[in-house]
Amino acid sequence: MDNKKIVLSGIRPTGQLHLGNYLGALSNFVKMQNEGKYDSYYFIADLHALTTNPDPKELHTNVRHILAEYLAAGLDPEKSTIFVQSDIPEVSEMYLLLNMHVGIGELMRTAAFKDKARKALGITAPTQGDDDEDVAKEIIGASTNKRVNAGLLTYPTLMAVDILIQRADFVPVGKDQEQHLELTRRFARRFNSFYKTEYFKEPQNFNFGSAPVKVPGLDGSGKMGKSEGNCIYLVDEEKAIRKKVMRAVTDAGPTEPNQPMAEPVQNLFTILKLVGTPDKVQFFTEAYNNCSIRYGDLKKEIAEDIVALTTPIRERILDIENDDAYLHRVLEMGAERARARASKTLADVREIMGITKF
Ligand code: TRP
Repeated sequence: MDNKKIVLSGIRPTGQLHLGNYLGALSNFVKMQNEGKYDSYYFIADLHALTTNPDPKELHTNVRHILAEYLAAGLDPEKSTIFVQSDIPEVSEMYLLLNMHVGIGELMRTAAFKDKARKALGITAPTQGDDDEDVAKEIIGASTNKRVNAGLLTYPTLMAVDILIQRADFVPVGKDQEQHLELTRRFARRFNSFYKTEYFKEPQNFNFGSAPVKVPGLDGSGKMGKSEGNCIYLVDEEKAIRKKVMRAVTDAGPTEPNQPMAEPVQNLFTILKLVGTPDKVQFFTEAYNNCSIRYGDLKKEIAEDIVALTTPIRERILDIENDDAYLHRVLEMGAERARARASKTLADVREIMGITKF
């Protein structure tokens, strides 16, 4: 067990998980767990969720949702360490320590920060030219009712700590998190070079041997996200799934053989490839190419395939979600294992930094 590489990833509890989260992330967590090659750590990043000031009850409910969804999708507390970030107090202490080596400027230049800061300040991104200065100026000059909280700025420090405190080798994350992972490596190198140590290793992204799966939305463009009409939640009922898929955006249909597909149609085929069988994909591709396709039939097929995939997961989510005793047991076990590793790292870091007992 001890010499296995460590895989670690987390999800921010901001709502229920959708098909995009499942196919893009969660199903891979489960695959990696079951391969047995890695020692895996999967957690719920509730401290990160605090950066956007959620309602306390909602935050708690969302942690419950993600936990139930992790378990329903097949994460197994006997095989993986499943935990809630805030159950590991060592993370908070190391966050304070690591912040002493993190620059305000580099944090302010992070894309995710600029996005969220603009939202908080109510300003729009410049379409061209200098896109750092607007945020910087606004932040310094902003009135107090439009503040950008310091937690939002130091989000990457906290994420780096999640990773470094468990000494993770691989961190499966999507494209939007690559910059944060790059910062994690930079902070690790900086710490090592400042204290003349080789203590931290640099974590790598992990693509499961193939390109990351990007699940398109149902509204014609972009990827599946939380907006209405664009996504299918794992807990959606059959009827809701059918309704959403049948309403997905298409076009007027091909008029010439082998015509290139418009983006919304291509998106439906991408979804079919992810949830359906190769012969269905071939059948509808041929139908498109010879102009006999009926989008209604394509959508019916996609809806059936999604229902078949998500129904068992949905049933397990509903079973698990209200089993407080089970959830409690899972998290107790996870916290114990995650804390064991974290406290060792924190003790080392304190010593390296000169915080030692008399
Ligand atoms: N920032 C990640 C996201 O929004 C969640 C996250 C927090 C994370 N800490 C992490 C992911 C550590 C991987 C490793 O998706």
